[in-house]
Formats: sequence, C-alpha cells, structure tokens
Amino acid sequence: MNDLVQNDLHVVKQKIGDHLNNSHEPLSDTARYYFDQKGKSIRPIVMLLMAKALSKKLPKSDPHHGLINDQQYTLAMIAEMIHTSSLVHDDVIDEADTRRKTPSANKKFGDPLAIYAGDFILAKASMALAGLNNLDLITTIATIIDDLVDGELKQLSNEAKASHKVRFDHYLTKTYLKTASLFANGCLSVATASKMDEQTCESSRSFGHDLGMAFQVIDDVLDLVSTSEELGKPSSADLSLGLATAPILYAAEEFPELNPLIKRRFKGPGDVPEALHYLNKSSGLARSRELAAEYGQSAVRTIQQLPESLERQALVDLCALVLSRSS
Ligand code: FPP
Ligand code: MG
Ligand code: MG
Repeated sequence: MNDLVQNDLHVVKQKIGDHLNNSHEPLSDTARYYFDQKGKSIRPIVMLLMAKALSKKLPKSDPHHGLINDQQYTLAMIAEMIHTSSLVHDDVIDEADTRRKTPSANKKFGDPLAIYAGDFILAKASMALAGLNNLDLITTIATIIDDLVDGELKQLSNEAKASHKVRFDHYLTKTYLKTASLFANGCLSVATASKMDEQTCESSRSFGHDLGMAFQVIDDVLDLVSTSEELGKPSSADLSLGLATAPILYAAEEFPELNPLIKRRFKGPGDVPEALHYLNKSSGLARSRELAAEYGQSAVRTIQQLPESLERQALVDLCALVLSRSS
C-alpha cells in the first residue's frame, strides 16, 4: 500500500533532511535523530495518499490528474516535522527513556539539547509554512500546533470528580487535540492545496479526524496491553503518568473502585497494578477497540465518497491496519 507513495515519501524525507541543516552540529544531530529511525511515517503517508486520491477527481486530461503538487509535498513534510518536534518535547516532559526501541533523544543528548532540537524542528517547519504564502494553509497548519499544546494541557486535568459522560467527553476532546487534529487538518490542508470544493475539503478533514481518533484510541489500548519491548517505548506509561484513557474510563463504569485511583492519578502505593487488575476483569479494552472500530468504519464511509482508485483503497486498508496494529 505504501508502495503507491514510497517514492513520494522519499521526497518528503529528503526535504526534511535539507531543512535541518545547521552549523551547530550537536543541534542538527539531535534534530535529525528521530527522523533517522524507522518511524511509521503514518501522517505523511496518509497525506500523500490523500493528495493522489483527490487528484483522481480531476479529469484524466488535467495535467494534475494522479499527481501530488509541490505544496502538498511541503505540507506532508511540515506535518511530520510538527509531529516529530512534539515527540521530542513529549519525551522530555514524560521523562521517557526509550522511543522506537532506542534511547529517547533526551536520554541520548540530554534535556537542554532535546528541547532546543524540538524548537529548532518546529521553527524550520514554520519557515516552510510561511514559504507557502497561503493564509488558509498557514491557519490550518498553525491550528495543529495550537491544538497540540491545548491537548497536552487538557491532559493535565482529568475531570476526576465529574460524571462518566463529562470525563469521557474530556478524554475525546483531548484525544482530538493531541492526535486527531494533526490528521484532520493535515488532510484538510492537502485538499485545500489541490483547490477542492468545500464539500471535498470537509470530507478530507472528516476522514483525517476519524482515522486520527481511531489511531489514538488504539494507542491507548496498546499502552495498557503491550510490553515495552513490543512498543519500543515504555508500556503502562499512561497510568504511571497519571492518565486515565478510554479503557480505564470504561472499566470505571463497571468497577467504581477505580474512581479514587483515577482521582489521585494512580499515585497511591499499588495503584497501577490494582488499576490493571480491574481493567482486565472489565470490558474496558474490548469497548475501546469497538470505539476505535466505529471511528475506522466512519473514516472508510467518508473516503468511499471519492472516485475509486488504488490510493482510495490504500486509505481504506490503512484504516484496518490502524485498528489491527500491535505497535
Ligand atoms: C505523545 O503522546 C505526544 C503528543 C501526541 C503531543 C505532544 C505535544 C506537546 C509536547 C506540545 C506541543 C509541542 C510542539 C513542539 C508542537 P504520549 O505521551 O501519550 O505518547 P507516547 O507514548 O508516544 O509518548
Ligand atoms: Mg505525553
Ligand atoms: Mg509520551
């Protein structure tokens, strides 16, 4: 499936490398560190596939039919750079030791360089965005950065005393802001860059939204069920960080014993194993997978509004892959 945009992804990665040149070697080495590893690259892959799928709406006689334009390559590059800069900062905040089965940037280079490197990547992405000279695209992409920070701040408050519905809505909003906004606005930007009509732009945004939500809900499931080795990063990290995600919130509906643990952010002695004990007795993990599957199905329905193409099918397949992934 990625074969369809393999060369295009190579172009994007090359562009990222070019943008991260800096005469201060430790800074460019740290900034390049996560890009040099084998990440999933799911964000640029989705945007590149979407760009090609959208171009199939143009008549075959149109010179842009089947092609990705320069703005779209740059947008895919910017999205991956924003994502990576946020991961570099996130690993400092979460005090993570590993990412992608190797030492995290903060572990390898220390907190100060990791923070500067995150800032540097974001600055270079912002320069590239400014270079697009398109206010709609600048606003759409700047919204992603705004949302990422907002999502992280929302994560700090867990509405522990509120009803299940309020708590779950808070979780969904946070999930949108910290993850799905990048997918949603990334896909929207690609549609805007190919001058699609309003309805198509909205369908692209909606597809990205649903795929992004499914992706993060599964991420939250995997955090609770996988070993650190499988994930390549710390497991049960969310509980250790005090975060109650979908599986735990569902489990608390069945086992109210979890509520005081959620409220004290799993900081009491034995809270983490106790939370896992109730989780495993509950249907929290299964219900979370169902929730992710609903988002996945909604994404598939939306993308099927586009003309049939190999890229459209690849996006459908990607929805299934996001749901079945194990890391
Ligand atoms: C990973 O979440 C982190 C994010 C999705 C976003 C982090 C955002 C910021 C630090 C603020 C914005 C910063 C910039 C530079 C734009 P996680 O910790 O739940 O996942 P993990 O298990 O992959 O660490
Ligand atoms: Mg985090
Ligand atoms: Mg983290």
